[in-house]
Amino acid sequence: MTPKVIAMAGKGGTGKTTTSALIIKYLLEKKLTPILAVDADSNANLNELLDLKVGTTIGEIRKDLKGDIPSGMTRDQFMEMKIQQSIIEESGFDLMVMGMPDGPGCYCSANQYLAMSMERLAENYRYILVDNEAGMEHLSRLNLHTIDHLFIVSDPSSRGILTARRIAEITEPLKLVVKNKHLIVNRTPTPLSPELEAKIKEAVEESDLPLAGIFPASEELIHQEITGGSYLELSNDVPMLKTAWAAFDKIFT
Ligand SMILES: Nc1ncnc2c1ncn2[C@@H]1O[C@H](COP(=O)(O)OP(=O)(O)O)[C@@H](O)[C@H]1O
Ligand SMILES: [Mg+2]
Repeated sequence: MTPKVIAMAGKGGTGKTTTSALIIKYLLEKKLTPILAVDADSNANLNELLDLKVGTTIGEIRKDLKGDIPSGMTRDQFMEMKIQQSIIEESGFDLMVMGMPDGPGCYCSANQYLAMSMERLAENYRYILVDNEAGMEHLSRLNLHTIDHLFIVSDPSSRGILTARRIAEITEPLKLVVKNKHLIVNRTPTPLSPELEAKIKEAVEESDLPLAGIFPASEELIHQEITGGSYLELSNDVPMLKTAWAAFDKIFT
């Protein structure tokens, strides 16, 4: 099968990882599985929201590849085996953690093996979700060149939303094909005053990005994060989740 690719964009701290965790929860509930979640932030923390421990990262495997490999195995077989071993398998989804980016020295051949392995691995999934930090370089490293759904997350300020527009354009020099863009304006106050809502809509129009949803700031999310509980266990009665689900329904079903 050819997986659909979901990727995140937006300034740091806007809610990309939060949105990633919620999309995973949503897809699991709708049985739109299996999912491969990729934490492509060098400061990996998607696992924390899912309450999972990180083992080996892809960055570490790239280093192993520079040393000796078991005899009777080619380097790409070795790479593929290591990747399989590093993936955390959960029910309905797997998690892969990229770890630190290339340090000094060239990992070009390792990146080539990674791309080859991904080509085979990708076929096992219905969705691949990549939680990026600001840049999106990992996507091409993972051999993912078409994004079906690019989520651009912004704070509710006018300036933030216009920055989101610029961020959405970073895919162009990377030669990624983006089929659908979805702007999420995150962490709005409750209740949302008509004045603020009008201001947000005005900035959204100016940004020219299709608005997928306006997500309220949520005490329940903060509580879940502080207590270290998995976001997958959040109750669907949480108002923020209801808003998010309504937005995701239009996108995924
Ligand atoms: N709607 C929300 N309500 C409450 N807290 C939120 C919301 N969205 C994000 N946060 C919090 O804001 C912080 C940054 O969010 P995060 O998803 O890690 O951003 P990013 O991945 O873009 O850097 C986290 O502590 C997260 O729990
Ligand atoms: Mg993040």
